[in-house]
Amino acid sequence: MVVEKLKKFDLCRGIPSSKIIVEKPFGRDRESAAELNHLILKAFDEKQIYRIDHYLAKDTVQNILFFRFGNSIFEPLWNRRYIDHVQITVAEKIGIEHRGAFYEQTGVVRDIIQNHMMQLLALVAMEPPAGFEADLIKDEKVKVLRSIRPLDENNIDELMVRGQYEKGAIEGQKVKGYREEDKVSPVSNIPTFFAGKFYIDNWRWAGVLFYVRTGKRLKSHLTEIYIEFKQPPLRLFGRVCDVIQPNALILSIQPQEELCLRLAVKYPGIRNEPRSVDMKFNYQESFKVEQHSAYERLLVDCIRGDLTLFSRQDGIDLSWSVLDPLIHRWETNPPRDFPNYAAGTWGPSESFRLMEKDGKRWRFADKKT
Ligand code: BG6
Repeated sequence: MVVEKLKKFDLCRGIPSSKIIVEKPFGRDRESAAELNHLILKAFDEKQIYRIDHYLAKDTVQNILFFRFGNSIFEPLWNRRYIDHVQITVAEKIGIEHRGAFYEQTGVVRDIIQNHMMQLLALVAMEPPAGFEADLIKDEKVKVLRSIRPLDENNIDELMVRGQYEKGAIEGQKVKGYREEDKVSPVSNIPTFFAGKFYIDNWRWAGVLFYVRTGKRLKSHLTEIYIEFKQPPLRLFGRVCDVIQPNALILSIQPQEELCLRLAVKYPGIRNEPRSVDMKFNYQESFKVEQHSAYERLLVDCIRGDLTLFSRQDGIDLSWSVLDPLIHRWETNPPRDFPNYAAGTWGPSESFRLMEKDGKRWRFADKKT
């Protein structure tokens, strides 16, 4: 391995301008991540290691913290007393592109959940940091990961759903199923879809469910965080209350870069008719500045020696600790129903039942579910 050779000739340690960038996923599980880390630390100091999770460099992801801690009006509501549940969606229309060999080794949990999704969840759920320095923020994110209720043999099947796409159509164009993709086994059991719920057992979030969903070849391309608030305590307007949608805050990460607050108002007229309205703020419309890609930003930060937007090893370890039992269960219990969702839909029907069992619905769903 390159790192071993660098170590052999002692080319890097103690030389600040020598840096190593490691793309996610960092390892395949907690053990291999620790081994990889150990190996890299033989040749580099911690401050020379740049572990990439490009989601952290998206402006709209960084904005989660600005939004939460730069405003005084939302933080008092940001807890179990006011929030009913949270949905985090990372939906992709694309399939695995030309990465069959990579994806066969990876699957959705290692590709998206262990890194991008856990980062989003931690940013939404973390406590205010003592300051805006990288390590202080990372300390708080790590505490969230530590509070996630452990997954085990007894609860995984209840809490998590896996899927794999079969052929279908995306915007009218026929597309292949996963098993027909190049460099993919025709009997592959690798999941391309994940839906699950996580409990965060801490003071702020006890009882609030975090629903998480991601998949390839879904109906839309979007990443968003949907925060649904509890209904008002009294149904003051009688039966019409039934049609009032709960307040919600939607942080759209991509492709729309938007904040949206859903409110209930009175529809004009003599009847007492409620309506839901959206109060929106759109990045591109408000800030007409040239945007850099997440990777451009990360490479510049690395050259400048700024580790703020890179992952720290303890966060990576904990994230694997949360997901290792799931990976193990799914790898040792092959699915009986793969492929189980058509390309161009919102995923397997099981994922809708996951929400229905709790009397809730995904924000985006196929018509007949
Ligand atoms: C990568 C995954 O990390 O993120 C890909 O390996 C995925 O499978 C990509 O398509 C999504 O990134 P973005 O920025 O397009 O949401």
